[in-house]
Amino acid sequence: MELLLLLPLVIFLSIYCAHGRSITMHVLSDEGDGTPIPSTLFGIFFEEINHAGNGGLWSELVSNRGFEAGGQNTPSNIAPWTPVGSSSDVLLATERASPFARNPIALRVEVLCDSCQAPVGVANPGYWGMDVRAGDEYKIIFWLKAATSSSVVVSFVSSDSSVTLAQSDTINVDGTKGWTKQEIVLKAQATDHYAQLTITSKEKTVFWIDQVSAMPVETYKGHGFRKDLALMLEELKPRFIRFPGGCYVEGERLQNAWRWRASVGPWEERPGHLGDVWGYWSDDGIGYFEFLQLAEDLDALPIWVFNNGVSHTDEVATSLIGPFVQEALDGLEFALGSSSSKYGALRAKMGHPEPFNLKYVAIGNEDCGKQYYRDNYLQFYYAIKKYYPDISIVTNCDGSYRQLDHPADLYDFHIYTSASNLFNMNHQFDKISRNDGPKAFVSEYAVTGNDAGRGSLLAALAEAAFLIGIERNSDVVHMTSYAPLFVNNNDRRWNPDSIVYDSWQSYGTPSYWVQKFFKLSSGATLLPSNITGSTNVNSVVTSAIRSSDTNDPSIIVKAVNFGNKAVGLKLNIDGSFWNSANSTAVILTSNNVMDENSFSNPTKVVPKTVTMSGKNQMGITLPAYSFMAITVPSLGSNSRDSELHSDM
Ligand code: AHR
Repeated sequence: MELLLLLPLVIFLSIYCAHGRSITMHVLSDEGDGTPIPSTLFGIFFEEINHAGNGGLWSELVSNRGFEAGGQNTPSNIAPWTPVGSSSDVLLATERASPFARNPIALRVEVLCDSCQAPVGVANPGYWGMDVRAGDEYKIIFWLKAATSSSVVVSFVSSDSSVTLAQSDTINVDGTKGWTKQEIVLKAQATDHYAQLTITSKEKTVFWIDQVSAMPVETYKGHGFRKDLALMLEELKPRFIRFPGGCYVEGERLQNAWRWRASVGPWEERPGHLGDVWGYWSDDGIGYFEFLQLAEDLDALPIWVFNNGVSHTDEVATSLIGPFVQEALDGLEFALGSSSSKYGALRAKMGHPEPFNLKYVAIGNEDCGKQYYRDNYLQFYYAIKKYYPDISIVTNCDGSYRQLDHPADLYDFHIYTSASNLFNMNHQFDKISRNDGPKAFVSEYAVTGNDAGRGSLLAALAEAAFLIGIERNSDVVHMTSYAPLFVNNNDRRWNPDSIVYDSWQSYGTPSYWVQKFFKLSSGATLLPSNITGSTNVNSVVTSAIRSSDTNDPSIIVKAVNFGNKAVGLKLNIDGSFWNSANSTAVILTSNNVMDENSFSNPTKVVPKTVTMSGKNQMGITLPAYSFMAITVPSLGSNSRDSELHSDM
C-alpha cells in the first residue's frame, strides 16, 4: 500500500520564525562520533487478539473449519456455519465421526428433499465475510464421506446468497469409499467482499464433511499470509517478531493456553483451541511453524514467548514443572534441531529442513509477581542454557529500577498509559544503571484510553517521543515493539491497535506510521546532539542518527513537537548551519490532534512530504502537534531520495 501523499508542504520551510519559539539542535556527525544502535531495536509483536491471525493475517477464509469450536461433546454448536435450505430440506448435526483422532467432530448433512428445487446443504461466512474477487483463484480442500453414492457442489455465493460467484463441477462421492480428501481450485467470476462458501447437494442423501479449508491461491511469499497485511509488516522493516502473544500465551486457565505441539503438523490434524483470554476459538492454522516462517519471510528474528506453567488463574508448582520444561526444549529442537532429530524431522516434513534462526525466547508473559514464576523460570533458564547456551532469555521481571535476583539476558517492560505520561517517559531510561546487567525489551507499549480513541494522532505523537527516548537510550534498551499489532474491525477486544482491517480492506493508525519513521534506526549510529533554545523546548523531543547504509550514510533528524504552538528548529551539524537544498523531510500531523484514520478516510493522518524549496534555508518549523523526520544526505551526495523518504 502506498500512502505517501506528495502534496508539498512548503509552508513549513518558509515561515521559520514560529512566533519567537525557536530552538537550535546541534549534531556531531564526524567519523567516530556516536554510538551503535542495536540491530534489533525496532520490531513487531504479534498476538492472537482481535482476530489478528484467525480472521486476519492467516489467509484461511473458513471459520471453525473442523467443527471443533463448540467443544468435543455432541451435539455441539457449529457457528458460524448455517444451513442452506429450510429445516424441511436439510438437517445438520455434529457427530464424533472425523477421520482425525485429535479433532473428532465432523458435520453430518442430511438432505431431505428429493430432486430439490435449489441446492441444499451448509454455508460458512468466514470471519465476517470472505473476500472473493473476480478473476482470483481459491484453493478449497475438505474431507467428504457419504452414506450412499451421491454428489455435492462447492460454491462461493454472495453475502445475501443471491449471486453465485464461483462454482465447482459436480463432485461425485462413492458411498463405499469412506472419507476422501477433496481438492479443487475455484476461479471467481464476480466479486463480493463478504461472500460465503457453500457445500450443497440437490439429491436426497446423507454426507459428512470435515476440515474444510478455503484460501486464496496467492498469499504473501506463498506461505499463507494475507498479502495486504503482510506487506504492511514488511514496510516496517521489523528486526524481530515476538509471538504468539502476551496474555494469549498465559491463558485465563492453563488448559486453554497456547501450546506449540498442538499447533504444528498437518493442519487437518491440529485440534485448535479456545483462546480464553480474548474469548474466541482458534483453528491454529497459523501455528508455531507458520510464525517461524513469517519471521524468516520478513527477515526478522523470531522471539518465541512460551508458557512457563502460569496462567491468569492457575499455576503449576515448581516441583511439577518438568514436563513444561521438556515441552519448551522440544520446541527449541523443532526450531533449531537437525532434520534427523525427532522434532527437527517434523519441521523438515513440514517443508523447512534447515533450522530457523531462533535466538531469543521469553519465559512467560507479565508473570513476575506470580507465586511460582521465579522458581519455575530458573528451571527453564538453566535447562535452556544447558542445551542451547546461545539462546538469549527474556525474564518477565522488570530490571529497570532494581537489580534482578535471577539471571537473564533481557527483561520485559510493558507500558500502556496516557499520552502525557508516555510523552514524559521519553526520559524513562535516561537514568537507569549502565552496568552489565540484562537489557530492556520494551515488548509492549502504547497510549491507551481517552487519549488514544481508536488510534489518534495525539497517541502517536506521544509514542514517537517515547521511541526517540528509546533510540537515545539504545545502549540499555535493545528491543521495542508496539502492542497490539492487529485488529479486525469486527472484533475489537483492545483499543487502539496498529493495523486495522476487515475481510478485504486495511489501513494503518497514526501509531503504525510512527513506527515507520524508525525503520532505518536499527543498526544505525546514534549521533551526539543537544538542544539550545529560547523558549518552550520541553514540548520538543529530538534525536539524530546516521543510517547504516555505508553508500549513503545520511543523517536523519527526528523531532516531535507535542505542544500546541509551532516551534522553529534550526539544525547545526558539526558547527555549520544546515543547508536544506539536498535534504528531504516527512511530517506526520493533522488539523486536529484527535484525528484518526478510518476505512472511509484511511489517509487522513499519514506522513506527507515536506518540500525543501530553495537553497540556504536555515531552519524549519515544527507545527504544533507534529512529528518530522529530516534526512540530510552525506556530503557529496546530491540524492534527494533517502530510503526513509522515498518509500514511506
Ligand atoms: O497487548 C494486549 C495485552 O496487554 C497483552 O496480551 C498483555 O501482555 C498485556 O497486558
